[in-house]
Amino acid sequence: MKKWMQLLLLLTSVSSTSALLASGGMEEGGRSMPVESNAKWAAECSSCHMLYHPGLLPERSWHKMMSGLDKHFGENASLDATTQKEITAFLALNSADKQDNRRAKRINQSIPANSTPLRITETRYFTSKHDEVSANTFKRKSIGSASNCVACHKNAEKGDFSESQIKIPR
Ligand code: HEC
Ligand code: HEC
Repeated sequence: MKKWMQLLLLLTSVSSTSALLASGGMEEGGRSMPVESNAKWAAECSSCHMLYHPGLLPERSWHKMMSGLDKHFGENASLDATTQKEITAFLALNSADKQDNRRAKRINQSIPANSTPLRITETRYFTSKHDEVSANTFKRKSIGSASNCVACHKNAEKGDFSESQIKIPR
């Protein structure tokens, strides 16, 4: 490949990455909270399922989840100690109770103080927002389960759940 072509490719990939990071927020009411991405989180937490935005659960939930990765929903998702520590810190810093963002705050408020859910899909916020989606819809082949947010919210990994972006696949 010619030198100038390599440079051009490099430049385009750099600018699209930063565009992705810049838009990585939990939108709502026009106030988008930018989320710093973390390379280890993005690599390790997307191998079995989509990446769940840290603003979807409170800090205590992420701590509990990250300290039990050897028994993660029936799977062994263990990490080395350094990686585990780095990802936990990233999730905690950007968690639902740390974000200055309406959606994250509502999620947080929907969880009783004495409960530490590990599933976003079990929070009151989630169930109230999806009470019109039937159990059969979630079970469609094209979706799988309610946990597969990206099937219907194409920008879910970026923390964008705005109504204009929702499309339920057949
Ligand atoms: C070895 C595979 C595997 C890896 C790696 C993994 N997970 Fe999971 N995760 C699962 C399975 C299986 C479920 C349950 C999915 C279901 O019920 O549909 C799950 C569920 C979840 C849920 C709950 C989703 C819901 O229903 O609301 C969260 C949050 C989650 N994982 C976060 C993480 C994070 C953070 C990491 C990285 C530290 C991670 N996962 C790495 C397998 C994995
Ligand atoms: C079967 C498709 C489907 C899946 C899977 C799904 N959603 Fe939704 N979601 C919807 C629909 C449809 C609505 C709009 C409900 C309404 O407006 O009455 C919605 C609404 C929402 C809203 C509120 C949007 C707003 O501004 O009113 C949030 C937040 C949300 N979903 C998050 C999630 C998360 C997080 C996941 C995964 C853990 C998920 N959804 C999985 C279909 C889905």
